[in-house]
Amino acid sequence: MTVSASAFDALRQDALAGLARATDEAGLEQWRVEWLGRQDGRLTRLLRSVREQPAAERPAFGAAANGLKQALEAALGEREEALRREALQALTTTDALDVTLPGRPQALGRLHPVTQTLRDCVQAFAQMGFRVVEGPEVEWAAYNFDAVRIPEDHPARDMWDTIWVDTLIGGERKMLLRTHTSPNQVRVMERMQPPVRVIVPGKCYRQEATDATHEWMLTQIEGLAVDEGIRMSDLKGVLYEFARQMFGADRKIIFHHSYFPFVEPGVEMAIDCFICRGLGAACSTCHGTGWIEILGAGMVHPEIIDNVGYDSARHTGFAFGLGIERVALLRWGIEDIRNFYQNDVRFLEQF
Ligand code: DAH
Repeated sequence: MTVSASAFDALRQDALAGLARATDEAGLEQWRVEWLGRQDGRLTRLLRSVREQPAAERPAFGAAANGLKQALEAALGEREEALRREALQALTTTDALDVTLPGRPQALGRLHPVTQTLRDCVQAFAQMGFRVVEGPEVEWAAYNFDAVRIPEDHPARDMWDTIWVDTLIGGERKMLLRTHTSPNQVRVMERMQPPVRVIVPGKCYRQEATDATHEWMLTQIEGLAVDEGIRMSDLKGVLYEFARQMFGADRKIIFHHSYFPFVEPGVEMAIDCFICRGLGAACSTCHGTGWIEILGAGMVHPEIIDNVGYDSARHTGFAFGLGIERVALLRWGIEDIRNFYQNDVRFLEQF
């Protein structure tokens, strides 16, 4: 078989036209096998046929065939490259990544509403000259009860179903999760000399049946001021000022007489119910009373003053214990205290 120069040309046209029709990797591979395949490629066969050529024509034939092979290999490389570029180009429109889009905002955390309220209360008392101290959450029964005049057989112990630490000391359970911050009145007076003006913020625990205004864990601030000549009017002044700062001047405040073993006289301070405004006999938030109690207070019992080594003939003092969750309820008009510790972000995000 002899192949003329024009036949080489026709072959080249044919091959290049076929290559132009290949639009993907599979098409390119099919074309490569058809033309350059080692076994049966059209060009491979042509090259093999060199020796069949008349001797005189062999060199020219061989050169032309080799030239064509190189041209086709080069064309294949170019086509591959072109297809790769096309595919990339297509990606920028179909699978476009818009780097100018603003990023997704990071969700910012915030302080729990009870923490916010606690801090605001601390701030209010700090401005009136009260210093912050802290005491242990796991407390001795001796401090939690006895030191504040709640002896073993006293009915006041029954007010709290205590969460005891299950460790026996001398055959008895003597440690508990403190039921109130009041033991710190004694702890502070044992360490300091008058004048004393402190607040003690912290968590307290009671094994209580929960309802709209009771949780088994609560946050309190204990306040204590002891000096010469401290009177009930000082207590009222401090608490009025506190209430004015937290709730504004319009809210109604009432003091009820009350009993706490560690003060004499004792009172409870309540704020008018924001839910029913005193009109709802069936209101579950104020239990129909129209008032929500937020703290207990009173004049420190003289026996306690003397027990810590002060002289009750000289020193008098007032103490109060404030429920922070109650303050938060009133502040934001929340109907149920149990919301605070259910960790529902839909609730927590509102503060
Ligand atoms: N410790 C009391 C309680 O948790 C609250 C209390 C009442 C604290 C009267 C006081 C006080 O300091 O004077 O219920």
